[in-house]
Amino acid sequence: MRKKLAAGNWKMNGLQSSLGEIAALAELIGQPNCDVLLCTPATLINSAAQVADKSAINIGAQDCHANETGAHTGEISADMIVDAGGKYVILGHSERRADHRESDACVRDKTRAAWAAGLTAIVCVGETLEQREASNTLDIIGGQLATSIPDKATAETLVVAYEPVWAIGTGLTPTLDQIGEVHDFIRARLERRFGEGVGRSVRVLYGGSMNPKNAAEIATVSNVDGGLVGGASLKAADFAQIVDALS
Ligand code: G3P
Repeated sequence: MRKKLAAGNWKMNGLQSSLGEIAALAELIGQPNCDVLLCTPATLINSAAQVADKSAINIGAQDCHANETGAHTGEISADMIVDAGGKYVILGHSERRADHRESDACVRDKTRAAWAAGLTAIVCVGETLEQREASNTLDIIGGQLATSIPDKATAETLVVAYEPVWAIGTGLTPTLDQIGEVHDFIRARLERRFGEGVGRSVRVLYGGSMNPKNAAEIATVSNVDGGLVGGASLKAADFAQIVDALS
């Protein structure tokens, strides 16, 4: 049985003054029946980890560099995330694939670096609206999975997030059938590549306009093991409802 994961992606939001939301979330959720994660901006990882210490909330990052150290001005390494108190890192988010031209191979190298440092990688995949309308969704997802994820994944080191690009921040969500089709496909690909044991235990999250109203329904879809939540993770009151819906 896979334990559900409620993961928040704060994107480029959050100042020291936002840390109160993490303390409030910890109070509101207590000890829920799902895992809880907030991926803050890099500037907040360390202080967020201190605020979340001894609570049910884990802290993570939104990206890392593929190298351990070196002349890469402005970048942060997976070791730095661990050093700051992070346990997870989101990799290959569609915003990074678009804004920073991150390829599947680049995401794979970053995932290797994350694993070497002891982080759990949340590898994101998802189709654009154009690709869906051209009936290419599963081909696109299949290609992203094959190249973005290195060999030797385990249930502890890998989480996959399905985020249709057209659903991110738009208030639009796929139908439950559409979500189910993609999640079943991802599960089958994971089982084929990593064997039934690992393939069945890796968690697959849905992301894209998940909110307190739709989270419980989306969580009923087969092979949906939680959510990767943007906007609705910023306020403790909203995210606590999502944690509750996934528990
Ligand atoms: O990574 C989470 C994400 O891209 C979804 O964002 O704001 O649509 O929940 P949002």
